[in-house]
Amino acid sequence: MSDKKASLSIDGKTLDLKVHSGTIGPDVIEVSALTGNGYFTYDPGFVSTAACESKITYIDGDKGVLLHGGYPIEQLAEQSDYLETCYLLLYGALPNATQKETFVNKVRMHTMVNDQMSTFFKGFRRDAHPMAIMCGVVGALSAFYHDSLDITDEKHREISAIRLIAKMPTLAAMTYKYTIGQPFMYPQNHLSYAENFLHMMFGNPCEQDKVNPVLAKAMDKIFLLHADHEQNASTSTVRLAGSTGANPFACISAGIAALWGPSHGGANEAVLDMLNEIGDASRIDEFVAKAKDKDDPFRLMGFGHRVYKNFDPRAKVMKQAADEVLAELGLENDPLLIIAKRLEQIALEDEYFIERKLYPNVDFYSGIILKAIGIPTSMFTVIFALGRTPGWIAHWNEMISGSYRIGRPRQLYTGPAQRDFVPLDKR
Ligand code: CMC
Repeated sequence: MSDKKASLSIDGKTLDLKVHSGTIGPDVIEVSALTGNGYFTYDPGFVSTAACESKITYIDGDKGVLLHGGYPIEQLAEQSDYLETCYLLLYGALPNATQKETFVNKVRMHTMVNDQMSTFFKGFRRDAHPMAIMCGVVGALSAFYHDSLDITDEKHREISAIRLIAKMPTLAAMTYKYTIGQPFMYPQNHLSYAENFLHMMFGNPCEQDKVNPVLAKAMDKIFLLHADHEQNASTSTVRLAGSTGANPFACISAGIAALWGPSHGGANEAVLDMLNEIGDASRIDEFVAKAKDKDDPFRLMGFGHRVYKNFDPRAKVMKQAADEVLAELGLENDPLLIIAKRLEQIALEDEYFIERKLYPNVDFYSGIILKAIGIPTSMFTVIFALGRTPGWIAHWNEMISGSYRIGRPRQLYTGPAQRDFVPLDKR
């Protein structure tokens, strides 16, 4: 708590409100005293509302800063790897060499899914959206692990976290294989996390496959850059679901559902759909004009961010990774990528985008990398979900291991006041 106090004058009364200071970031005014005095706060979209206290991730959107456990995302992307970042998110500190090896081994030992899981897939249409399948099969994990569903037991929470991180690539790749009618590939535990994912996606039982190390490195970076982003819509969904005491697999499934929307994780898929729709560089101006037209709901996908109003630090790292992948695959002259580069340039120079601080976000570049690697657009959001899993589970665990109450927002009611029921023959 800080020494500062806030006061609110209303209806001739003055209410004193507590002010909390975090390690960094804006002070937070506690408004819980309002309820007892007959008031609620109103903040659609939670633009000014801190819903919890957290030690995991810090974002300064104006300065373009993203820290996990205090470490800048650029340093993690450069010097760490995805599984080490998962450890950092889950345990709040970087692991030493032994801790890292133990953690990586634990994840490795849980990559396989129960064989009965393959029958779940058969219930889906082959043309089902991969995110629809993921919502189902990740939630279904709770039907297999009755041994670890006691959320009050720290060990149960830990094993669930490891299982989720380990099994997400397997489930994601199974989803893809199912939609294209190919046999599922078993994980190969001598491979790294990212290599294993690419092996399960693109390998087949008839041939030996060799994963390209440049692509595996880019994949690991995509996972790492998506690993957490503090209280975004899907993480808040996981927390809200978790606040009811629901099991972690059900909560992560809720997070996957929230991530699916085009304003959130669905944006990387929407970027590629948009580039395909534009189709030719000659039509770019037409689409930019549509994005600027207030009467047209069209938005440039992959541009803008709720929090970053300067630049998205993840986008900078992702752009570099995109350049490396395109060079490795000799795709610099791909027509869609030419459209993407031109759009990026227009958005960085056009007054409309500059004024509103609409920069290319992480999904703009991750979409480009994923397309270059050969991942179908419908799988893009699945890959975001895979990457975000440690963040979701770390926030869930932080909440469950501390003191929390069921999340229950209030409302500003504007419907009819109480009135008497009108019988059918009088309406
Ligand atoms: N294209 C054109 N105009 C835009 C765009 C865009 N992509 N994004 C925002 N604007 C305009 C908007 O019309 C408004 O203009 P005005 O002030 O004249 O009314 C202004 O910019 C502010 O927009 P907002 O809707 O108040 O901003 P927000 O913070 O509520 O929305 C956003 C953030 C990410 C939902 C939005 O920028 C958007 O829809 N972007 C495209 C989708 C996208 O790329 N989403 C991925 C986000 S990054 C991944 C993740 O973290 O989930």
